[in-house]
Amino acid sequence: MSADAPAGQTAAAQVNPNGPTEETVLAVEHYTDRLFRFRITRPRSFRFRSGEFVMIGLPKEDGKPLLRAYSVASPSWDEELEFYSIKVPDGPLTSRLEKIQPGDKVLLGRKPTGTLVLDALTPGKRLYMFSTGTGFAPFASLVRDPETYERYEQVIVTHTCRDVAELTYSQNLVASLKDDPLVGEMAESKLTLYATTTRQFSGRMGRITSLIESGTLFADLGVPPLDPACDRAMMCGSMEMIQDVKALMLKAGLTEGSNAAPAEFVIEKAFAG
Ligand code: A2P
Repeated sequence: MSADAPAGQTAAAQVNPNGPTEETVLAVEHYTDRLFRFRITRPRSFRFRSGEFVMIGLPKEDGKPLLRAYSVASPSWDEELEFYSIKVPDGPLTSRLEKIQPGDKVLLGRKPTGTLVLDALTPGKRLYMFSTGTGFAPFASLVRDPETYERYEQVIVTHTCRDVAELTYSQNLVASLKDDPLVGEMAESKLTLYATTTRQFSGRMGRITSLIESGTLFADLGVPPLDPACDRAMMCGSMEMIQDVKALMLKAGLTEGSNAAPAEFVIEKAFAG
């Protein structure tokens, strides 16, 4: 940081007031050879709504930043920012990002945005959050936000991965909520994590699309089938997963919403590169 920079602003920020700020890595945790999470400093000026995404990146040798969209995995009240990332062996960004250590610098965009926000849904009784892989990230933010529980009687987050180890992040996070002073009690009574695997044996298996179509999801949860009168949904994962889950929502009579026109479900593609 330049000695002349105002408090909380980096030299890079001074050069381009709309460009990314340089933040410090505070913690890194690796789960598998494909998945890790990291936490960084949050500038005081950085505001976002739980569920939104922002550009994250690293400087390139030629000086231009290499940035990709990442859902913020921490809630909007948190003093730090958390991200949950895939590692793609020859991915231009993640192959370098996976090597970051506490104390390193990463770039943070200034304009968080996105549709996986509570305001893009009309009021309802039950909120479903359907995720695969790193698509769990925006829901890691929302399940730690008290507003989620203030708005819904029941919150169901589904997470489907190939292997059991890939469920570690979501399972640890939801388990940690019971000691959370802010949402602990509400999460205890309202939140269910419905985790499944597709390629490795586990207690619960299958793609979420199959589990919705067969009715197994609803039977397991002890709830009625999807109903546009009371059910709301968010989904985040690969493009194919989103399209397939979206088709099931439409079939059940739910309509797609946005920030400008809130409705019964919203979608976002998970970062993958
Ligand atoms: P599957 O193992 O049957 O492909 P990935 O690691 O490739 O991002 O996938 C994450 C999870 O999403 C996997 O369990 C995968 O199941 C599942 N998945 C992939 N495509 C779809 C889809 N179109 N609908 C539902 N689930 C999907």
